[in-house]
Amino acid sequence: MDSKFKTLYRHIIEEERKIPSASGQLSDLLADIALACKLISLEVNRAGLADILGLAGKENVQGEEVKKLDVYANDLLTNTMKVGGHICAICSEEEETFIPLDDKFKDSETISNKYIVHFDPLDGSSNIDANISIGTIFSIYKRISKTGVGTLEDCLQKGSEQIAAGYCIYGSSTILVYTAGNGVHGFTLDPTAGEFILFHENIKIPKKSKTYSVNEGNYCKWSGKMKKYIDSLKVDDKSTGKPYSSRYVGSLVADFHRNLLYGGIFMYPSDNKNLNGKLRLMYEANPLSFIVEQAGGRSSDGNSRILDIKPESLHQRVPLFIGSEKDVEEAEKFLNS
Ligand code: AHG
Ligand code: MN
Ligand code: MN
Repeated sequence: MDSKFKTLYRHIIEEERKIPSASGQLSDLLADIALACKLISLEVNRAGLADILGLAGKENVQGEEVKKLDVYANDLLTNTMKVGGHICAICSEEEETFIPLDDKFKDSETISNKYIVHFDPLDGSSNIDANISIGTIFSIYKRISKTGVGTLEDCLQKGSEQIAAGYCIYGSSTILVYTAGNGVHGFTLDPTAGEFILFHENIKIPKKSKTYSVNEGNYCKWSGKMKKYIDSLKVDDKSTGKPYSSRYVGSLVADFHRNLLYGGIFMYPSDNKNLNGKLRLMYEANPLSFIVEQAGGRSSDGNSRILDIKPESLHQRVPLFIGSEKDVEEAEKFLNS
């Protein structure tokens, strides 16, 4: 009964207290991100109204242009994090390069800018006008450099170095899912209290599923091995649970979240036009890979573990196969046959 009324903030503080050397800064940073997500959620809910009222792209009462939602989400997350003062660099899908930040609390002995945050401020943004779920994805690393503003080296760490990651979905309700390396936990926003309340502690993804998620319109552009794998999911074979169901809405967060809860494999493979697929390693693949592994699932680029890839640039793309362990293993077998 108690856990039902546990707020996100209480949960992250209790998690951080389990680490004796923890300073409490990670809890504060996660709380900053959660606050930004609540505010984005409010704006997402108003988006349809803004459209009816003809606000988007026009001027608001202050004479400022009404921002597109992805720009709004980007600015809000960036500002919240700047004010919080725990980070030395912000890396966003919406920015060309990283934003270096100096130590805001230089005079304090306990507070310093020791983290780096990567985020996709609004994932699935092409779905906004159709009222389909969209979301925010984030990922947190510890800096490598010791002082001053963050460097590109701080920002280009392997996914396995993440200390926390999560996403917030703006859907039929607003849900925040995060991991700080000790399981995956889900919270639902109670709009009246303005609090994220724990709804699922220690989420585990089913080891094997009956669902695949992929944009099959790209079939003609795929490799022969990829085509064979997808074909194999559609045969009638009771012993392996086939044919599988297909579920794809085109919002990675929404497709991923459904598969996390019910089991499934999500794929965005390479094709003959996009040799590295479409999704970004730092903003999309790494955070969701950390989460899926913490939930007992698997994530790969078809050959190797996503979290072991050494990034070369901030906006690097990567083929992605992520979800239930046995299904991702099977995809890898086909792709490497
Ligand atoms: P974003 O809105 O951040 O640019 O991401 C869109 C991504 C992802 O959410 C989704 O899985 C994928 O694009 C869909 O791509 P297709 O339309 O090519 O299927
Ligand atoms: Mn995205
Ligand atoms: Mn985006």
